[in-house]
Amino acid sequence: MTECVLGVDLGTSAVKVSAVTKKGEIIAQEGMDFPLSQPQPGYAEQDPEDWVSAATVAIVRLILRDQLKPEEIKGISYSGQMHGLVLLDKDNRVLRPAMLWNDTRSTKQREEIMAKMGNRFIEITHNQPLEGFTLPKLLWVKENQPEIFAKAKTMLLPKDYLRFRMTGKLAIDYSDATGTVMLDVEKQTWSREILETFGISESLCPPLVRSIDNTGQIDDWYAEYSGLSTTTKTFGGGADNACGAVGAGIDSPTKLLSSIGTSGVILKYEPNRKTNYQGVLQYEDHAIPDAFYSMGVTLAAGFSLSWFKKTFAADEDFTTVVESAAKSTVGANGLLFAPYIVGERAPYADADIRGSFIGVDGIHQRHDFVRAVLEGIIFSFRDLMDKYEAKGSHFETVVSIGGGAKSRLWQQIQADIFNTRVVSLKNEQGPGLGAAMLAAVGLGWFKDISECTKVFVHFKDVFLPQPGNVEKYRRLHEIYKQIYPSTKQITHELVAYRRENQDR
Ligand code: XUL
Repeated sequence: MTECVLGVDLGTSAVKVSAVTKKGEIIAQEGMDFPLSQPQPGYAEQDPEDWVSAATVAIVRLILRDQLKPEEIKGISYSGQMHGLVLLDKDNRVLRPAMLWNDTRSTKQREEIMAKMGNRFIEITHNQPLEGFTLPKLLWVKENQPEIFAKAKTMLLPKDYLRFRMTGKLAIDYSDATGTVMLDVEKQTWSREILETFGISESLCPPLVRSIDNTGQIDDWYAEYSGLSTTTKTFGGGADNACGAVGAGIDSPTKLLSSIGTSGVILKYEPNRKTNYQGVLQYEDHAIPDAFYSMGVTLAAGFSLSWFKKTFAADEDFTTVVESAAKSTVGANGLLFAPYIVGERAPYADADIRGSFIGVDGIHQRHDFVRAVLEGIIFSFRDLMDKYEAKGSHFETVVSIGGGAKSRLWQQIQADIFNTRVVSLKNEQGPGLGAAMLAAVGLGWFKDISECTKVFVHFKDVFLPQPGNVEKYRRLHEIYKQIYPSTKQITHELVAYRRENQDR
């Protein structure tokens, strides 16, 4: 009998479910895509039932195709795309499509929050009210769809909706609750002050649970639907970044996570709930009980590269395009790229900044542009690391995951720009492994997450900074830092021009 847990990784374009044994071995993995709807520029929506169908397809495949025995699946936990707003009525039915983390329609509401509460808001939530977060979305619904807001009885985040459909029980874990910017981080309760200021009933907010807490067993309906057993327990789970950090072994303040997906994340473990970066960096509850993490998000990290490839090298193989950067030099022969192609979140919270190539010269070839893109994404990460170092942090290891860990060249660029050793993971599984670890700890297979990390997480390649390159990149980063202030006004005017002319 091979007992296992399932880690459900509910992303923005797909769900991936991994079956993991007590020894940390992945014995099977299945996934399924679902659509993203963008009915207007800036809108990003999904039908919550698509998450349920896709997760169920993956689970059914695990049982039928991979021959997992339902009674051997002891626990399930979840990693979820953050901040998405799901609204349910009194019968727990979905009221409107979910508004996702990358939906930016709520600039007006974000400004109103700051106008009403200012720094007090940042004091309570340790975050700025960015468009991506849940509260501005909720206020957008309140203002623009009052009939829906009036019917709303419960607010859930994406993975909590999925768990609800599997168990019939409503809950949200602390790591996703901080992402709503409605949680009082120091008190660890929903903030009455925020809720009252914006006329939101506390009953809209689901009960808070820890990521490793038992959130009930699979209910009869979902057992019938999926083939799972009603003896399988579910656990709170966490935000994808928190779970990614757990799955990458980020369990102490000297390790930094560098993650490149569509967006990119620099993430640091924080032991203290009183630390406050005044919203320049996000501050969230970790999936590790009583711990926290801070992070900065570069909105278009992997997306900058896939945009470049799609636009300028559509017919070529992705890896070949990335590796062509080796033909260029440190600093891409004097070409810089700022990856603000969909606006930016950190360290500049600016939805209207746009990207640029600076220093384009008649000598440049396409591989210089590719190199500039790879470097520009990491320069933007370096801006975030500077914020930590300015507060006295020192890092021994950067754990690289996602796209950045798929290329040795890109990992070396990271080691050189970060001036810190960069490691990759053996058998990297992303947030799904972190979610499985939460179930494994929740079931009592391990005393705590650190014990589980020793068994589940192993480092692979190590990249050391090369002193000559470090010096060059230090100088280039000083130049890079001038791009934001120098291009802000110009790109804002271009965005305004496009809006006025309805260009797409
Ligand atoms: C973090 C954020 C993204 C999403 C992606 O604040 O918005 O990283 O979690 O799913």
